[in-house]
Amino acid sequence: MHDLESLIYISRPAIRPHSIELLDIADACLRNNPLHDLTGFLYFDRSFFVQVLEGESARIETLCATLLDDPRHYGMHVLRRAPILRRRFACWDMALCDGTSPYPLFGFKPSRKLLEAAKQGDASALLSAIDSMSVPVRAAPIVAAPSSSEPHLSS
Ligand SMILES: Cc1cc2nc3c(=O)[nH]c(=O)nc-3n(C[C@H](O)[C@H](O)[C@H](O)COP(=O)(O)O)c2cc1C
Repeated sequence: MHDLESLIYISRPAIRPHSIELLDIADACLRNNPLHDLTGFLYFDRSFFVQVLEGESARIETLCATLLDDPRHYGMHVLRRAPILRRRFACWDMALCDGTSPYPLFGFKPSRKLLEAAKQGDASALLSAIDSMSVPVRAAPIVAAPSSSEPHLSS
């Protein structure tokens, strides 16, 4: 794909972690991102969202304009935007990481101090925590080919 890039931002949620509003966001991610060939990672807790978006530059641009207007969060601050050769979240339309869980996705559990520092403009520690996350490649589903010896069911 041409012009592949990754954008990471931090913002403040205006909604609670386990709310209908959050499910609506997850729903939009899973509905829209495959259509726009966007992949990524969305961390949420009571005080922060951190999202990694991967895809074609223009698609990211369009989504960012929408995100800026979304009242379910505020104070959106881009931490890094850079060209990438390949996606880290290639198999994830949007990997949702619940920061309130003791076992968050990919073990990503940044401290509040780290998140506050990123929001204040020092994002180096948060970015290296994101970069060192170990993201498993999701296996493709196994689809069994029908065997020719299988009996045919007639209706
Ligand atoms: C923190 C946050 C992350 C979001 N991430 C995405 C996303 O990755 N993809 C997406 O389509 N919408 C995302 N949204 C929702 C969009 O702002 C917007 O509501 C949605 O794209 C509208 O989709 P619709 O026109 O299909 O209803 C996010 C919203 C928030 C608050």
